[in-house]
Amino acid sequence: MIAPSILSADFARLADEAAAVSGEEGADWLHVDVMDAHFVPNLTLGLPVVESLLKATSIPIDCHLMIDDPDRWAIGYAEAGAHNVTVHVEAARDPVALAANLHAAGARAGLSIKPGTPLEPHLETLRHYDTLLVMSVEPGFGGQSFIADVLDKVRTARRLVDTGHLTLLVEIDGGINAATIEQAAEAGVDCFVAGSAVYGAADPGRAVRALREQVLARTAHRSWGG
Ligand code: DX5
Ligand code: ZN
Repeated sequence: MIAPSILSADFARLADEAAAVSGEEGADWLHVDVMDAHFVPNLTLGLPVVESLLKATSIPIDCHLMIDDPDRWAIGYAEAGAHNVTVHVEAARDPVALAANLHAAGARAGLSIKPGTPLEPHLETLRHYDTLLVMSVEPGFGGQSFIADVLDKVRTARRLVDTGHLTLLVEIDGGINAATIEQAAEAGVDCFVAGSAVYGAADPGRAVRALREQVLARTAHRSWGG
């Protein structure tokens, strides 16, 4: 799955930017980065913009909440109709209760870990989640370089899913482009977020198709098939 991040899109033309990656071979999810200038040193957009975006596109919305106190704020995005709502384990007080609340509101629940956050302490918590978002840059900004060290966490998660110990999608976010996506695919990622590699391209729809082709070519031999 390919999830273009609108962080690198034109915020004054979000409906058009969503349309540019929609359609038959288009984006599987549209990744929306919510930042509060507290959890991360950047400020983007919040619930009113997500509500408008939900009306403007039929692509399932993947909200990545880089905010403090997600226990309080995440539920609004689920109630608005976001398909997947991801919170950071470093910010959540009670991630198990949070996942239950997101499910009750009809959304998938995602848990994200920063590059320096280990996976092992959170494996029990992840049993309650549908998505694991492995950050491959420090959250806060688009256009940063891929941190390949995080692929060990992807491999571990992939193994736990393939052996039935976890049931979730493995998503990666940060520095994904034509030069890095194949190593992430090889490590076992299911869903690839790409901001600058999609919206920095002359034709965002074509960029999505090209990234997916690379993944499929690289994973054709794998049983889980991307
Ligand atoms: C960064 C965001 C990412 C960002 C990725 O904190 O979570 O979703 O948009 O941008 P690229 O793909 O340019 O690294
Ligand atoms: Zn993100």
